[in-house]
Amino acid sequence: MEGFCHHKAYITKRQQLALLDDLLKIIKAAPFYTPTMPKTGRPFSVQETNCGPLGWVSDKKGYRYQATHPVTNAPWPPIPKSMLDLWQTLTSLSQPPEACLINHYKNTAKMGLHQDKDEDEFTAPVLSVSLGNSAKFRLGGLKRADKTQSIELKSGDVILLGGPSRLAFHGIDRIIKDSSTLITDQTNLDAGRLNITMRRVTKLAKV
Ligand code: SIN
Ligand code: MN
Repeated sequence: MEGFCHHKAYITKRQQLALLDDLLKIIKAAPFYTPTMPKTGRPFSVQETNCGPLGWVSDKKGYRYQATHPVTNAPWPPIPKSMLDLWQTLTSLSQPPEACLINHYKNTAKMGLHQDKDEDEFTAPVLSVSLGNSAKFRLGGLKRADKTQSIELKSGDVILLGGPSRLAFHGIDRIIKDSSTLITDQTNLDAGRLNITMRRVTKLAKV
């Protein structure tokens, strides 16, 4: 799909370990929690937390962005510098992302086909980094019923949903267990997968 970009093995092993270290500190300050579906209250199979000025949350009241953690009520920790640098390099935008969602997939977790459309700005791309076990990512079109393709996302891969693909349907079919050794038992993350997704939420200022 036009505007979709898959940078395979973009982040070196050394950078992945440094990023994991930053994320473990974030998770200490802003622990993972289990979001629930609007209306039904059904729990997600992924756990989530955020960093940055705005975090994406979901509960019975709906999907939204907010400045504080829904369980601790504390402001989200800042986005690590390495992620901000990555945003600037790959998007060429001078204005930073406002949201950085961290998804934790145990090996049995998945994410249904959806669009990222809770933002007010769709000209900025969605940038997302994979760490740990590989995932089978499904990319569709602008309509739920459009044809889809399966793409394997490995630790260190970066994808961008930009241009026409900004609002493409996407999801995670499954995690491939034992496909990476990056996330160990010591991290208490169940040797699964982390996905770190940055987005612009409010309109970009005209410059
Ligand atoms: C998401 O769409 O929020 C996550 C995608 C991924 O885990 O790669
Ligand atoms: Mn998404």
